Amino acid sequence: MPDDFIPHERPGTVAALALAGLRRRRKTLPAQLFYDEAGCGLFYRITELPEYYLTRTELALLPRVAADVAATLPGPVALVEYGASDETKAGFLLDMQRAGAPLVAAYVPIDIAAPALAALTARLRRARPGLAVFPVAADFLEPVALPDAIGRLPRLGFFPGSTIGNLDPIAARVFLGGVRAALGEGARLLVGADLRKDPSVLLPAYDDAAGVTAAFNRNLLVRLNREAGAGFDPATFDHRAVWNAEEGRVEMHLVSRRAQTVPVAGEAVHFSEGETIHTENSYKYTLAGLAELAGAGGWHRERVWTDAEELFSVHAKGIALGTLPLVRGCCALPVFGWLLLLRLRCWRLG
Ligand code: AVI
Repeated sequence: MPDDFIPHERPGTVAALALAGLRRRRKTLPAQLFYDEAGCGLFYRITELPEYYLTRTELALLPRVAADVAATLPGPVALVEYGASDETKAGFLLDMQRAGAPLVAAYVPIDIAAPALAALTARLRRARPGLAVFPVAADFLEPVALPDAIGRLPRLGFFPGSTIGNLDPIAARVFLGGVRAALGEGARLLVGADLRKDPSVLLPAYDDAAGVTAAFNRNLLVRLNREAGAGFDPATFDHRAVWNAEEGRVEMHLVSRRAQTVPVAGEAVHFSEGETIHTENSYKYTLAGLAELAGAGGWHRERVWTDAEELFSVHAKGIALGTLPLVRGCCALPVFGWLLLLRLRCWRLG
């Protein structure tokens, strides 16, 4: 399973999530439904496409990032990775040494996909027997308590893959504030983020010539047929990627080729010809925009690495002074507060 994904639906909720989106005036499906087994395989293929520059550009930046980070940290750290079902990207940091000792004394991969997490842990325990690995099976979009076993080690958070772009800005800010509070005083954070650029480069990355992204998008309908009692004919929906300049995001849609009525979990869902299901947002930030977003979550910018063409960026963040009360406030939001924010997120999609 690839590491760049947001898997957070709970078992049994696929039909409920689908219906909630398909009953809306402007139909939506939540992007986390992409990542069933077939969707993970298709996403892995996307990361290797010539048009999808994100993964290979980030992978090319990470050796330099890891070396620079190792040179500036005072000593061993606990590496906490959000959305870690694969150790490829963390591996660059795990390889680093600091004053003759490994930079990373403990690794905390956090992911909702427990089987992928178990496989990652087993691989690492075989390949790096000296590394303490404390996997946490949890939805990283909700407050996550770190294992006591990492004690007082300074924390280095890691959120690669531009997954930050799949959260809308409110959810991204809440997430960053939650990470800030969970990692605590003295923590650092590394965030990988795709950069805003000309749509002539952005759009092919989300609508490739080989049709892999189209298959990834349509696989949502295949999944609903299997898991939500739906009767979609995926061939009657076109894949569409559009650049929404006002919102600063690439949107993916499935467009009904004809008027049709489709059963979903016992309900009849009507589509007019050309009607779309909005399936994903991928926000693209400028360097300044990302700094502002992270600043609102309590992080200040320490360093940014980009490739020569400024396609992709990795941001090192430290904790901004004077932000603690605000961030604590975010994390102390009662359950209703979190639900309200999630509803806002859905409302903005509609
Ligand atoms: C996981 N995430 C960062 C990908 C992206 O680029 O937004 C998901 C994706 N959707 C279509 N292609 C890739």
